[in-house]
Amino acid sequence: MKQILDEAAKQQYGVPHFNVNNMEQAQAIMRAADEIKSPVIIAASRGALKYSDLIFLRNIMMACVEKYPKLPVALHLDHGNNLESVKTAISLGFTSVMIDGSLKEDAKTPTTFEENVKVTKECVQYAHPFGVTVEGELGTLGGIEDGVGSGKVHLTDPNQVEEFLKLTGVDALAVAIGTSHGAYKFKIKPDPDKNLLAMDIIREIHKRCPNLHMVMHGSSSVPKELIDEINNYGGKIPETYGVPLWAIKEGIAAGVRKINVDTDLRLAATAAIRKFMHENPEKFDPREYLSPAREAMQKVIKERFIAFGSAGHAFDYEPITLEHAKGVYRK
Ligand code: G3H
Ligand code: 13P
Ligand code: ZN
Repeated sequence: MKQILDEAAKQQYGVPHFNVNNMEQAQAIMRAADEIKSPVIIAASRGALKYSDLIFLRNIMMACVEKYPKLPVALHLDHGNNLESVKTAISLGFTSVMIDGSLKEDAKTPTTFEENVKVTKECVQYAHPFGVTVEGELGTLGGIEDGVGSGKVHLTDPNQVEEFLKLTGVDALAVAIGTSHGAYKFKIKPDPDKNLLAMDIIREIHKRCPNLHMVMHGSSSVPKELIDEINNYGGKIPETYGVPLWAIKEGIAAGVRKINVDTDLRLAATAAIRKFMHENPEKFDPREYLSPAREAMQKVIKERFIAFGSAGHAFDYEPITLEHAKGVYRK
């Protein structure tokens, strides 16, 4: 991960992080990356690992690397909630972990700065000798429907960042600038002439810590056409808006290097499956409805690779292994 983000910083583009839970999502990501020649960040949440009994998802993620050995791929733990979860991910072969020390182990209650530093530092000290990259978080996101997030937004305080980096040694930092997880981010359509997110926080942090890789969570765009398609085929999703691509591009221009997207793939798959089921009520072979779902996800993924600027950069550099990364951290 560190290499992928360092390379992105050199050329000032962003790399999307996509969450996976099953084979079709993993294939959609890899097919799009192969087609568009982008480095890849595949992420598994604790929920995804639980759903897949750890080992199934672990092997699906490994298959991505085996099938596409030339593409740079980071296998990332999303929202680790304690050292144990980080240890588990590393034992499974993940090359990057997030420790979300901004919340307590319940993934709901905000921690103090000191508590955040303590657990994040422990994870960095554990992960780096394995060559594994660590993403920390300062500030908290909104949105609780997925069980990750305090439900209240506490924006990142730029005054705390330098000290946090010095005390913990994290490689990347998730910042809270007003995004939230899930499909229900904004009730009214974002206006490009008004401040949607706290971009001034990103700019201030980048000014003070120009080498830091910032991460934007909760960055699904919740495309209207997907919501409409879901609703046209029997769904009931109320009017809602996500983070528009123009806002993400502003973030990338100001120093964001990793952009987390999960919900948009869920929406794309659901829209395609609902449409298929509606048009083919007599069919029941999962391969028949999962194929259009996979294609719909691949289309969204390709659009994000292009929009965030990582398309075409897969072969700019030779991907390093964890073994090599160990040496990087020893130095
Ligand atoms: O950050 C949250 C991701 O969207 C993962 O969601 O915990 O439902 O797998 P999940
Ligand atoms: P979305 O719910 O906006 O896709 O965010 C996903 C995320 O931040 C995963 O860590
Ligand atoms: Zn997140």
